[in-house]
Amino acid sequence: MQVQIVDHPLAAARLTTMRDKATDNARFRAALSDLTQMLIYEALSQAPSESFPIETPLVGCEGTRLATPPLLVPVLRAGLGMVEQAHAMVPEAHVGFVGIARDEATAKPVPYLESLPDDLSGLPVFVLDPMLATGGSMLHTIELLVARNADDITAVCVVAAPEGVAALENSAHPVRLVVAAVDEGLDDVAYIVPGLGDAGDRQFGPR
Ligand code: PRP
Ligand code: URA
Repeated sequence: MQVQIVDHPLAAARLTTMRDKATDNARFRAALSDLTQMLIYEALSQAPSESFPIETPLVGCEGTRLATPPLLVPVLRAGLGMVEQAHAMVPEAHVGFVGIARDEATAKPVPYLESLPDDLSGLPVFVLDPMLATGGSMLHTIELLVARNADDITAVCVVAAPEGVAALENSAHPVRLVVAAVDEGLDDVAYIVPGLGDAGDRQFGPR
């Protein structure tokens, strides 16, 4: 599996803001939005373009655009904080939704929403979720996508644990990972360490 770590001073600064427990909900959301812009920019760096004719105010010339804009799939709740900025970067993209909440006792994913196109063949899909911890929520989402014939999936995350990266690698699904940081590991309740806490709560308050 291809793992692309977005190693840039501005990404590291926004991630620091998100990690800091003194950061309030509003500043956390703003830093996540800024960082999403950088992650999407990097995730699309090798995306195929197509040319089409345009007219500048002076002459005709060739313009370019993304050949196939990705479907954006935020994983609720925490992925909601990434979708507006990702959509601003790729305004022509369509958006699907998946809702999953981890069971706090078992850390297993409990799905509660799925709103996706029926056929994803030939369409790149960007799954937006800031946290890849055990990988259970991302794997569940990927399975929903593969069941709809997706074969080009990018997980766009802020922080991953090595356990989550390994879970994606071992799955043999057609996925790559674009992420700002791979942290040390998981604690005994499957939170990422050092991490940034609960990414849903830090944006929206406790459930
Ligand atoms: C968080 C996060 C991921 C998941 C990661 O969501 O946004 O979806 O946990 O953990 P995993 O890799 O072990 O599955 P959470 O279940 O806390 O729901 P929320 O976004 O509604 O807060
Ligand atoms: N979900 C989060 O929001 N944070 C973690 O550290 C792990 C799962």
